[in-house]
Amino acid sequence: MIDKRDVFTSSGLDLVDEIIELYKGDDNIKALDVGCGSGYSVNCLCEKGFDATGIDYCEEIINLGKEKYKNIDLQVMDANNIDFPKNYFDLIIFECSLSIMKNPESILSNCKELLKQKGIILLSDFYFKKSDNQDNTYTIDYWNTVFDELNLKIIKFEDKYSEWRNFLGMVLWEYGDLSGLLMGNENDQINKDILKKETGYFFTILKKED
Ligand SMILES: C[S@@+](CC[C@H](N)C(=O)[O-])C[C@H]1O[C@@H](n2cnc3c(N)ncnc32)[C@H](O)[C@@H]1O
Repeated sequence: MIDKRDVFTSSGLDLVDEIIELYKGDDNIKALDVGCGSGYSVNCLCEKGFDATGIDYCEEIINLGKEKYKNIDLQVMDANNIDFPKNYFDLIIFECSLSIMKNPESILSNCKELLKQKGIILLSDFYFKKSDNQDNTYTIDYWNTVFDELNLKIIKFEDKYSEWRNFLGMVLWEYGDLSGLLMGNENDQINKDILKKETGYFFTILKKED
């Protein structure tokens, strides 16, 4: 059963405006939204002339998107097994989705292969605040190391901590707790820690350099 909000997503932190600005005046931009939910961003991009596809492994939510938005390309597909050719996309988007997947690092690495040279990844996701006695996983330093190891050049980075706090406040107000944030979350490490550790949110634009 899909939640009344479709999925828990941090609306207002979405990347669409950034993308439209980034590609102003360009034609035939091939974009892939990984973990697209019901396809809000895919639909916005299509309306702006992008050749956009959304994938999500939840069939129910893809069907919901197909009812909501006619004539957009939404497909049931697992991010661990994306069936598109290498060097195909100009742009790949992860909006509030990468960290909840089971193998975020390998998914990011595989998606890099799907990008054309100089292609762009837009990623918005949460992070754990760093503290001395906790491990480093999914902190901003951790994410930066992952990007560095994949030779993805950071061309923009914004900390969206205050917007994230507002979003969490809104979820608490609406649902009484934050457990819905774990809905469909396959990443056990995050499930274990997300309600215990302090979190923030970041937005970044990464460029494929090799
Ligand atoms: C928090 S929602 C965000 C949805 C959308 N990007 C948005 O911002 O509205 C995360 C989405 O990722 C999808 N997802 C999680 N793991 C996935 C996987 N391995 N492959 C494809 N989609 C996945 C979930 O089904 C869910 O729709």
